[in-house]
Amino acid sequence: MIDVAVLISGSGTNLQALIDNCARDDFPARIVLVISNNPDAKGLERAEKAGIPTKVINHRDYPDQETYDDQLDEALNECGAKLICLAGFMRILDARFVNRWRNRMLNIHPSLLPSFKGLHTHERAIEAGVRFTGCTVHFVNPELDDGPIITQAVVAINPDEGADSLAERILSQEHIIYPQALKLVAEGRVRVVGNKVTIRDADYENLMCVNPKAE
Ligand code: GRF
Repeated sequence: MIDVAVLISGSGTNLQALIDNCARDDFPARIVLVISNNPDAKGLERAEKAGIPTKVINHRDYPDQETYDDQLDEALNECGAKLICLAGFMRILDARFVNRWRNRMLNIHPSLLPSFKGLHTHERAIEAGVRFTGCTVHFVNPELDDGPIITQAVVAINPDEGADSLAERILSQEHIIYPQALKLVAEGRVRVVGNKVTIRDADYENLMCVNPKAE
């Protein structure tokens, strides 16, 4: 069983998916702490409801990035977390912190990386006219939305689809692939070689989430 901390800033639907999966008897990870930089994050209520300890570490209370990241690190070490899941955590972490947690920190991003890094991914995908987009779970590198890819799901963009509808359909895939990725990592089946992930005994048919039709 691996102890995980989840970092959030907002609504926490991905956190909820992780909470729900961790509650299953056969799931190899448990959430020991949820940290939010935003005191009003709805995800904090989700954690409290599930009986998971929470902590608000508000970036506004710290003079600079380094001090803030050190505070995060201290809380993470204190709770004994061995892995971090970033789940809609809207702060950039400094390279020192990222390197300390290299290959032990996961992030979910609402595009098929390496395309559409950064914000407003859905609008940008629609604007670019791509037919498919999706979501990615990856290990975190110091560069923004970069790092070895663990799982992805593909979502087709429907003709005339708006960003809100697309975001909603991608989000429901995020809720599938994030727990899937965490499970693989917690089982010790994920190895990073160079900038790539290899997965031991991967059942690729179940791992590939492709959703070519509107749902
Ligand atoms: C998700 O779209 C995730 O991919 C991105 O931030 C959003 C968080 O949503 N990194 P939620 O807070 O998990 O509902």
